[in-house]
Amino acid sequence: MCGIVGYVGSKECTEVLLNSLSKLEYRGYDSAGIAVFENGEIKTRKAKGKIADLVNKMEKEGTLSGHCGIGHTRWATHGEPSDVNSHPHGNANVTIVHNGIIENYKKIKEFLVRKGYTFESETDTETVAKLLDCFYEGNPLQAIQRVIDEVEGSYALGIMFKDYPDRIYAVRKDSPLIVAVGEGESFIASDVPAILKYTKNYYLLDQDEIAILKPDGVEFYDDHGTRIKKQMHIADFDEEAAKKGNFPHYMIKEIHDQPSAVKTTITPRITNGMPDLTECGMTYDRLKSYENIFVVACGTAMHAGLVGKYVIEKTARIKVTVDVASEFRYRDPILSEKDLVILVSQSGETADTLEALRLAKRNGADTLSIVNVKGSSIARESDMVLYTHAGPEISVASTKAYMVQLSVFYLIAFALAYANEKITEDECRRLVAQLQEVPDQIEAIVAKPDDCQYVASKLVNTENLLYIGRGLDYALSMEGSLKLKEISYIHSESYAAGELKHGTISLVTEEMPVIAVATQRELFDKTISNVKEVKARGAYVVLVTHEGKDVDPDAADCVITVPSIDDLLMPMTAVVPLQLIAYYTSVLRGNDVDKPRNLAKSVTVE
Ligand code: M6R
Repeated sequence: MCGIVGYVGSKECTEVLLNSLSKLEYRGYDSAGIAVFENGEIKTRKAKGKIADLVNKMEKEGTLSGHCGIGHTRWATHGEPSDVNSHPHGNANVTIVHNGIIENYKKIKEFLVRKGYTFESETDTETVAKLLDCFYEGNPLQAIQRVIDEVEGSYALGIMFKDYPDRIYAVRKDSPLIVAVGEGESFIASDVPAILKYTKNYYLLDQDEIAILKPDGVEFYDDHGTRIKKQMHIADFDEEAAKKGNFPHYMIKEIHDQPSAVKTTITPRITNGMPDLTECGMTYDRLKSYENIFVVACGTAMHAGLVGKYVIEKTARIKVTVDVASEFRYRDPILSEKDLVILVSQSGETADTLEALRLAKRNGADTLSIVNVKGSSIARESDMVLYTHAGPEISVASTKAYMVQLSVFYLIAFALAYANEKITEDECRRLVAQLQEVPDQIEAIVAKPDDCQYVASKLVNTENLLYIGRGLDYALSMEGSLKLKEISYIHSESYAAGELKHGTISLVTEEMPVIAVATQRELFDKTISNVKEVKARGAYVVLVTHEGKDVDPDAADCVITVPSIDDLLMPMTAVVPLQLIAYYTSVLRGNDVDKPRNLAKSVTVE
């Protein structure tokens, strides 16, 4: 939520800031702004809307020229999206950009008002800028230390002090921030793609560490003001991986990335045909020791966990509880040191998932995270981490991250089942071999989008829709439904097919299309009965199933088939048509596919 950037160096900084911000727009796009040192003065430009609106505004009002500056792209929390609430905030002496939420901003504001400060915006951020100004007595480091002692909440801050026109100061707590270094230049950014055009070398700022960026290098200090050394990281993907290439949207590019993302994620974790999770310390003995497993995540990552639950319970016969992170952290869960809590997150920064992790650790449970972004907070704070290797996922609607999360859950399930002697070595090898076939199958589905485009053309004017399925298909239909609603703005619900008759079927008319997923052989006939029930009530029905299934021609209006594989693994292939249907429907409705309204990719506030 919100992206921040900063630059010090010989380049024209407005150009660098705008380029870097454009790579972070997925984090929020309610407004954008920059501040630049121009002739020793801090000058700002800001505009409601996307970065393109800021650029247009600067074309009319004049651009800024300088070599040191900060920038922001906003997902509004305090105060509506407007020019005045846009960052940067501050005054002629101190100006900041902020990602996070200051929880005690009202108290700080009252204190500052008593001191004579006035406020222009409704934001929490402006109070931090003015508090810095209030505490500043010529030493920026000391002012920042005093401010971090006072503020409660989360923050990643980029700060400019008028007295230091060639420096950026940065500090963070519970919101991500990297500090990157190039030849004679340095950068701050909320995420790695923002700096890849200029450098691959970066540092991860830890809680309450302070960085001072100067043209000739970066200095790091702890929260007591003691200078510290930090380890440099090198980004493991380049600028091209974070670009759309020839695709019209990131989402469709990322759907196409899925086969290689799965291969890259599973290959290093298969040794002699068997799952091997020892890279993170997860041996068969350790796997055997757990009594209960909890999966905690949000949104799509939680949906991956639901598939994980079915697969682990079915193969390893261990109880798995799946929780939405925002519920888990407040429901006082019963945890012990014999439990494993698996946290799933693409960004590794989701505030509720991070807090759920901390809660699990406080209660003595073992924690394992499945995370895509290297060095993110959840990855760093968990006992064990299995990185998914999907590369950068830019589209707000998650696709390839879900796919690789599933692939890791399968490896965990097969390893658990084998460790607990619930499957033989031969069966384990067979399942792993089937998993290795999935990338080619996804490739084949993605290559033929015609049926999904046709379904999208039928759904484009609908306002409500139901997804139904049983067992694994139900877990999958939840993801299909979320994908459709978040980018097409069509209201959709997913329902356990067998539950329809207990109320929801009253909604079914010719105005209510139904997408039914039926890939589980033992449940197929039962789901088809439910499909017929909705068809009989006038619904336009799309059925997603696997090739070779004999489907009664009257059962559905459109049948989409995917290659056949072990039932357990079907979610990995059957999700692809659901992703494509959502994508093409959004395109036909003329929506901003990659940046759907009101959303941000990385939800760093609760
Ligand atoms: O970064 P995370 O995986 O923790 O994010 C969790 C959700 O915010 C995310 O999956 C969200 O639901 C997506 N927009 C869905 O496409």
